[in-house]
Amino acid sequence: MTYLDQNKAAWNHMAETGSQFAKVASEEELREPLKTLDSRGWLPPCVKGLEVLCLAGGGGWQSTLYAQAGANVTVVDLSPSMLALDRREAARRGLKVRTLEASMDDLTALEDASFDIVHQPVSTCYVADIGKVYHEIARVTRNNGIYISQHKQPTSLQIVSRDSQDRYVIGVDYYINGALPGTADTAYREDGTVEYLHRWDMLVGELCRSGFVLEDLREPYRGDPKAPPGHFRHRGRFIPPYVRMKARRLERTGPNSPTKLLWTPGDKL
Ligand SMILES: C[S@@+](CC[C@H](N)C(=O)[O-])C[C@H]1O[C@@H](n2cnc3c(N)ncnc32)[C@H](O)[C@@H]1O
Repeated sequence: MTYLDQNKAAWNHMAETGSQFAKVASEEELREPLKTLDSRGWLPPCVKGLEVLCLAGGGGWQSTLYAQAGANVTVVDLSPSMLALDRREAARRGLKVRTLEASMDDLTALEDASFDIVHQPVSTCYVADIGKVYHEIARVTRNNGIYISQHKQPTSLQIVSRDSQDRYVIGVDYYINGALPGTADTAYREDGTVEYLHRWDMLVGELCRSGFVLEDLREPYRGDPKAPPGHFRHRGRFIPPYVRMKARRLERTGPNSPTKLLWTPGDKL
């Protein structure tokens, strides 16, 4: 059994047992779908007719909201049970959503430059090589297209336990090779999954090296000063668990390249 098989089984189980990550969009959320999807103003004011890829975004939340807002939606996910929720929600609301079972690091079924927006919820921790994922996203995103993603912060994935003074213990090597070990502190880790830590050099650096320009970066606040030790919101006060990024695909070649006027190595100044 490969780690992808293990993750597929774990996510199928979460989808089938009503996990918080398999939460579908509510009536209230569907009233203003773009506001629900994007409180930061990263999306264009209208997505009608745009090609949107919800990458590793199964579960019927993102896909339903984008389709309700008028986008042409494709959902790619490893878990058939998560994708079944997307199809179920689309059917019961009379929306059109295309689903594709695939791993995010191999999007060969999708054509080059076919998406205006790629939206990826927290999921890159479930693959060993984030570089492959970024290269695939760069390939399928149109020039000037937007890539919105959320990831687990590497420091959060290094935490293994809480000590007697309620301090969080970093017990995993930042330069770890291979999958993360199981930990006593399971906050921000999903049961039964195999996860990988991606360093900043890969999370942000490799994104830029793959042909994207970073336009914004946020650390969603998950702390609560009233949360007791042991609660995930107590831990959230000390280590931000997630990072959100907005990046834009910019072709570096061609007559209309936005980067054409910039200095490139070898140019005479
Ligand atoms: C946190 S859930 C995201 C879905 C949910 N709609 C949300 O917003 O919370 C992460 C998703 O990543 C998917 N996933 C895990 N490994 C994957 C892989 N290698 N390729 C594609 N999807 C994967 C899971 O099946 C799951 O649906």
